[in-house]
Amino acid sequence: MSTYQVGILVGSLRKESYNKKIAQFFLEQENPEFSYNIVNISDLPLYNQDFDDDGDPPASYSRFRDEIAVLDAFLFVTPEYNRSIPAVLKNAIDAGSRPYGQSKWDGKPAAVLSSSIGAIGGFGANHHLRQSLVFVNILPMQQPEAYLGNVQDCIGSDGKVELQKTKDFLLSFKKAFEEWSKKIIYEKGQD
Ligand SMILES: Cc1cc2nc3c(=O)[nH]c(=O)nc-3n(C[C@H](O)[C@H](O)[C@H](O)COP(=O)(O)O)c2cc1C
Repeated sequence: MSTYQVGILVGSLRKESYNKKIAQFFLEQENPEFSYNIVNISDLPLYNQDFDDDGDPPASYSRFRDEIAVLDAFLFVTPEYNRSIPAVLKNAIDAGSRPYGQSKWDGKPAAVLSSSIGAIGGFGANHHLRQSLVFVNILPMQQPEAYLGNVQDCIGSDGKVELQKTKDFLLSFKKAFEEWSKKIIYEKGQD
């Protein structure tokens, strides 16, 4: 049995980020079929098309592009900034989508989880992210959707997801994402 490699892209660089803590929950679940790792997007300079036009991208771009090229699926875990996605996440999507014709995202399955300290759970970010994913031809799972509101109440003093109903939801979301990913990867293999 092969192990599918999933890259988690977290849209917050904050040390005590709730989204990082949610991402950590996925890292801690055992499943021999799916291996989860966080992809570092913190060292990517703001995208400048000259990097690619001049054929001289920063070393962090090459590292990032090589890393995501071999991944099977992506899990986006993000806060909402001003009703959209944080710039660091959009920058990573842009960096992975170029040079033109060499996007590393194309045709891969994904899932989107947004969270917020507010009640709406990052709905705006979740859907703005989907807009970019459509264009780079990542295939995000439609259902179940994941909007974690009041995320601070889900995390215990040890920094781990504490609320049982949140754990149950995350586990069911993870299962659905893995089934979705297998379906997309299988269909790609039939081409
Ligand atoms: C620049 C900025 C913009 C924000 N905009 C929103 C917003 O539009 N909607 C929202 O629910 N929370 C917003 N927040 C609050 C975030 O939900 C909160 O800071 C959250 O903890 C960020 O996620 P993190 O803990 O993973 O860093 C914003 C925070 C920042 C720093």
